[in-house]
Amino acid sequence: MAYKVQAAVVRAKDAPVTIETIIVPKPGPGEVVVDVSTCGVCHTDYLYVEGGVGDNYPYLLGHESTAVVSEIGEGVTNVAVGDKVILNWRAVCGECRACKKGDLKYCFNTHNAEQKMTLEDGTELEAALGIGSFAEKTLVAAGQCTKIDADLEDDQDAAVGLLGCGVMAGIGAAINTGELKRGESLAVIGCGGVGMAAIQGGKLAGATKIIAVDIDDAKLEQAKTLGATHTVNSKEVDAVETIRELTDGFGADLVVEAVGRPETYEQAFYARDLAGRVVLVGVPHPDMKLELPLADVFSRGGSLKSSWYGDTLPSRDFPMLVDQYQLGRLDLDAFVTERITINEINEAFDKMNAGKVLRSVVEM
Ligand code: APR
Ligand code: ZN
Ligand code: ZN
Repeated sequence: MAYKVQAAVVRAKDAPVTIETIIVPKPGPGEVVVDVSTCGVCHTDYLYVEGGVGDNYPYLLGHESTAVVSEIGEGVTNVAVGDKVILNWRAVCGECRACKKGDLKYCFNTHNAEQKMTLEDGTELEAALGIGSFAEKTLVAAGQCTKIDADLEDDQDAAVGLLGCGVMAGIGAAINTGELKRGESLAVIGCGGVGMAAIQGGKLAGATKIIAVDIDDAKLEQAKTLGATHTVNSKEVDAVETIRELTDGFGADLVVEAVGRPETYEQAFYARDLAGRVVLVGVPHPDMKLELPLADVFSRGGSLKSSWYGDTLPSRDFPMLVDQYQLGRLDLDAFVTERITINEINEAFDKMNAGKVLRSVVEM
């Protein structure tokens, strides 16, 4: 018997999100049905609303979730019924060339559940990022579930579920891609949810100087509460000069660019120590171009990297970061600006687009 549950759906480009009854099939081989506990509201969900991902409407939104496994399909061994899990949108195959080389982040065969969830009239739903967890239950591939410590309090679900996307991207940009080490200096350009998470990643890694750069003083004030030791308003002062001054004239060991624009990338490029690293985690618009003197690329060592979802390996990173959260070394609660019901999603999108929240989290 399939399940009938309530879920948040967008039926057409720029249409308001509506709460609808959907049909979730029983899990097939390698699939899992979960009871969703919480789901964060992310820019990527809104991209589906605006038509930025395609026009395969209707979409079932939601992807930053903690959930409990309610039923498993044939052959599923990584989770059992009753397990608490964080969902992720990169279930890797383990078999392609990239996986065999250990470069799981370049896996060419990430996969989702094979079956589709539907509206009551049988219309197939496209699940956002292959998850679709603004729903009481959702169907995912087993590899999209990572089991975590069952001792979490229920009110901690909202915070840890955010590791499923933006917050993890920021933490991972600093500690995985940027390989930040104890005692190093970190500058973060752009202090939205992703940049703030990079700041927390810097604190966790033991960076001694954490310089937050933004054009919004309110963001910079908040960055201080999350671990920034210095703040720079790049509308008022030259970001590159100021970062250099703050790092004894050298530049930061690691600069994380969390905006995704050519001018901020250029700042990151010049604000790094001669042998420093730049990590681009902000997602640029496809039309953007960058011009840099090749001689400057040549004469500066270090590395220029991009960070695709924080180079995250869910099975390695989620349990480790949940432990750090429970030990009080990682502040994930700060990212939960408000807890809302599924009926308040449209208002939550408005607040997100106005830059007023780090995350609104729906409690299902
Ligand atoms: N210089 C410095 N900061 C800037 C600039 C700029 N020129 N322009 C914008 N910002 C700041 C904003 O003030 C805001 O604090 O960057 C931040 C962006 O935050 P959000 O819009 O909340 O975005 P976030 O969710 O953090 O994502 C940042 O990473 O994953 C990608 O797609 C995502 O490209 C986006 C980026
Ligand atoms: Zn693979
Ligand atoms: Zn997301």
